[in-house]
Amino acid sequence: MGRFDGKVALVTGAGSGIGAAVARGLATEGATAVVPADVSGEPPVDVSDPAQVDELVDRIVRDHGRLDVVVHAAGVDDPWAKGLIADSVVDGVPLDVASRLGDESWRRVMAVNLVAPGPTETGMADRTPRALRQRARYATADQIADVVLYLAGEESANLVGAVLLANGGRFTA
Ligand SMILES: NC(=O)c1ccc[n+]([C@@H]2O[C@H](COP(=O)([O-])OP(=O)(O)OC[C@H]3O[C@@H](n4cnc5c(N)ncnc54)[C@H](O)[C@@H]3O)[C@@H](O)[C@H]2O)c1
Repeated sequence: MGRFDGKVALVTGAGSGIGAAVARGLATEGATAVVPADVSGEPPVDVSDPAQVDELVDRIVRDHGRLDVVVHAAGVDDPWAKGLIADSVVDGVPLDVASRLGDESWRRVMAVNLVAPGPTETGMADRTPRALRQRARYATADQIADVVLYLAGEESANLVGAVLLANGGRFTA
């Protein structure tokens, strides 16, 4: 018996990194259907467009009669902001991204990103400057997927509205 036997799941950002690891994990644990949604997928689905998401959810329910699990792992990063952070680390100067970030950059990220993992070895991490990468402990995508599968499963039924900081102690160590 798999933890997700008979379940139907939707995973955004399933084309890469954490989303791909979660999709694999759900399938391995018995999910009947794992529907990927990725702007780089086929067909492409842009989660920042509510109409596309509504259409996809309607289609899943029409095709499968149910939708049990939704994992939102789609995400974009901002190389310019990462560069600012790296500069502040290298130069030892106070960090100030908030006052320098333009509206467009802010809206681009906030329109897509929601999940709260710590540093994780994915395509996104590949785009992080070396100066920052050296300062953090990186999880594998499968390790973060284990946390996601716990949150998506029956074991966490009493866990509501909580943010699990799966970051290797980044803020607490
Ligand atoms: N990797 C890290 O170190 C790290 C750290 C903190 C937070 N996160 C967050 O974890 C989540 C997963 O990131 P990842 O590391 O797996 O990144 P990733 O770049 O490997 O994968 C992100 C996926 O999201 C897809 N995507 C981007 N915009 C989309 C859109 N508008 N609609 C649909 N799909 C879209 C991309 O095509 C890609 O396949 C993101 O929300 C990211 O912000 C990652």
